[in-house]
Parts: sequence; C-alpha cells; structure tokens
Amino acid sequence: MPEKAHEPSRALERLQREIAAHGCSDRAIALFRQLICDYFKSHGRDLAWRRTRDPYRIFVSEIMLQQTQVSRVETKYQEFIAAFPDFETLAAAPLRDVLGVWQGMGYNRRARALKEAAERVVQEFGGHLPGDEAVLATLPGIGKATASSIAAFAFNRPVVFIETNIRRVFIHCFFHDAQRVRDEDILPLVQKTLHPEHPREWYWALMDYGTMLKTRVENPNRQSASYKKQTSFEGSDRQLRGKVLRLLLEEGEMDEAELAAHLADEDMRLERILAALEKEGFLIREGGQLRIA
Ligand code: ADE
Repeated sequence: MPEKAHEPSRALERLQREIAAHGCSDRAIALFRQLICDYFKSHGRDLAWRRTRDPYRIFVSEIMLQQTQVSRVETKYQEFIAAFPDFETLAAAPLRDVLGVWQGMGYNRRARALKEAAERVVQEFGGHLPGDEAVLATLPGIGKATASSIAAFAFNRPVVFIETNIRRVFIHCFFHDAQRVRDEDILPLVQKTLHPEHPREWYWALMDYGTMLKTRVENPNRQSASYKKQTSFEGSDRQLRGKVLRLLLEEGEMDEAELAAHLADEDMRLERILAALEKEGFLIREGGQLRIA
C-alpha cells in the first residue's frame, strides 16, 4: 500500500515483520498492545466526554461522533449538554429545540433519535441508562457498534466491537497486504488484543491511533470488504433536507410556495423531500403551511 508520508514508528515495522514471519503470534499481540499503549501515553487526546463518567454525557457524545468529526463535536457537545443536561430534560424538550441546537451537525435524524432514546430511558429505565449492549441496541439510533462503544466508555465493559478508526488500525497493522478484509476476520483480533480490565482506555487508545493513521497513510479502510466511497454532500438530498429544516427552524412557519421560492433551483426534489420529512415526523403540513413538529 502506498504510504502518504513516512511512518515514523519502528515499533510498527517490528510488529509488521513479526506478523509476516509468524502470523498473529503471542509476540505479535504483545507488540501491538505496546505500540498502541505507547502512542496513547504520548499522544492520547484529552476530550470532554472522556473526562466524565456520566452515562448520559457519554451517550450523547457517542451519537454525535457517529458521523461527525471530533473537532465539530467538541463545540456542539458543550452546547448540547448545557441546553439538555440530563435524560429528563432532553426527553421533555420540544423536538424543534433539540433540532435547533443540533444545527451544523448534519444528519438530523440522529437528533430526533437521541430525544426518542431519552424518552425511552426515562419511561422504561427510570432515567438510568442500561449498561448491557444488547439492551442499548434496542434504543432508537443505536446500532450494534454504538451500543458497544457506549457499554465500553460509559460502563467500562469489555465488549468487542469495530468502528471506522478501529477497523483502520487492525487493517493497517495485521492485514497490510490483504484485500477485501471482512469485519469477521478482524473481530477475533479485537477480542484477542482487548485489555480486559481497562477496555475504556484501550478503545480510546485504538481510536486515537486510528485517527492518527488517517493523516499518515493512504486509508487502510479501502482494503475493507465493507468500504464505501463517500458520496458528495453538495447537491445531495441530505443537503436539501438540512436546508429545509434550517429554514423552518429560523422562520418558525412558512408556506410551501415561500419555501420553494427560497430553494428555487431545488424545486424538482422539494416535494419528495417534504413528503419524506412529514412521513418521518419532522414537520407538519397543514393547508400549504409548514412547521417543525
Ligand atoms: N472517545 C470516546 N469515544 C470516542 C469516539 N467515538 N471517537 C473518538 N474518540 C472517542
């Protein structure tokens, strides 16, 4: 794989030589752990959601981090926690207030799912987030990987999971010359290398190493069987959905003709987008008037 810049780490070269010679030996596992832990000791990131043990805050951060980069989440996270400091406040808030604070994050469905999850936590779990990843995965907007990351970060559970940064680390270190690497091939290594007593810190370290790799080497995730090239945001339905919601949040209420005039060049897709937003419960349409639900 072509390297963007030189990989400074001798430890990584040693690990890759060991794997080439002996496969995934005990020595390879030990070298890998050492590599990741050493990196974390010198370069680990100090992030707001790592300074708390409050399951609510960690829950919010993990949803935010699903599809948005850390730098943007850092600001929004503070704003969101200030506006909605706990499950009860978020559950009771009007959707439009939640969407209002969420603006700039994209993927508004996440904001609504977050609020719905808070409602379920209040109603079904007395305001206490469950620690079991199978139960967490039943909450809106929480897939298997997010459920596991919450279990690890909020409850320090030794769960086994992969997300994009973790995948990048394992592919780069253990599957250097392979193609179409499946998550099923990586998971046993995640299991084998997991630090059983400190899963929280271990996964922080893996994520930080994976984030560093992104800037240093050609994306190893291209070797993943599940790799999908990112589609362009410019001109996408997602962009138009975002514009519609932002306008309605700013204006409060608009009639459809006024909205169409604002988004003149998007006319063709507007009806379809409005119908979808209405069906999903984001907006209410009454006699040609539009407003956020
Ligand atoms: N720290 C804790 N959770 C994280 C995540 N999902 N991405 C990056 N850093 C994190």
